[in-house]
Amino acid sequence: MPRLNVEKSMALHKEALKVLPAGVSSNARLWRRVCPIYTPCSLFVEKAVGSHIWDVDGNEYVDYRLGYGPVILGHSYPQVHDAVHSVDERGLVYAFSHELEIKVAKQIISLVPSVQMVRFANSGTEATMHAIRVARAYTGKEKIVKFEGHYHGAHDYLLFSTEPEFTDVQGDVPARASPASLGIPTAIRELVIVQRWNDFPGLEETLRKHGDEIAAIITEPVMGNSSAIMPEKGYLEFLRKVCDEYNIVLIFDEVKTGFRLARGGGSGSLWGQG
Ligand SMILES: Cc1ncc(COP(=O)(O)O)c(C=O)c1O
Repeated sequence: MPRLNVEKSMALHKEALKVLPAGVSSNARLWRRVCPIYTPCSLFVEKAVGSHIWDVDGNEYVDYRLGYGPVILGHSYPQVHDAVHSVDERGLVYAFSHELEIKVAKQIISLVPSVQMVRFANSGTEATMHAIRVARAYTGKEKIVKFEGHYHGAHDYLLFSTEPEFTDVQGDVPARASPASLGIPTAIRELVIVQRWNDFPGLEETLRKHGDEIAAIITEPVMGNSSAIMPEKGYLEFLRKVCDEYNIVLIFDEVKTGFRLARGGGSGSLWGQG
């Protein structure tokens, strides 16, 4: 395969390093393999149309990333483009309510069987943070079960074992909560129980020991942050059942799967959809 010319991207990344930590606004943009000479590097985009994207060096790519999912209809898809622009002509930020909130909420409720009400958030991080707060308030309990390799955003409460070391996941080594970054208080680790996904007996044992302390189990319905690992047959139903049994709130984080996997998202399968 010919080596890509990414000189302009490399120059921009060098410049970015002066003003942005690691030269990027998200760690996921550090590309270690595309820029073999000057690593790490980040590709700088010139434009994107439909399913294609061009970098500042003129290389054209088929864009399988699509903004990690939300651009599922392609870049600048005419109906989406027109709808966004027709709204922005009437002002973008009001700090007041707007009728569209009701319309969109009703549409989401009609599409996703598990949803009765909607609270909008600005990011996935915020959404999962609020969800676990509600779970704690509802159950009066504090601990949260999360799964190894699942990512739920950048707040301290769930930033554990998102990319565990290989040595941590081999053989019989039990799953453990390892913080994904410096700066996460050890006190928070006490509130997080990391489990191995698809391990039925492992979770059952944890619930027998700690069920009365656990407020929520949070999961991606399909493990999208480690390629795409499917739940074992019956696993999502099993999570639903044990949560009911132990008075635990089950949180499906559908930041990646929502409206993409199926109309009702990953959780829709529990209600016979998707
Ligand atoms: C499953 C999942 N949850 C939460 C998040 C965090 O979303 P955001 O980056 O909007 O905070 C992500 C981001 O990739 C995600 O994949």
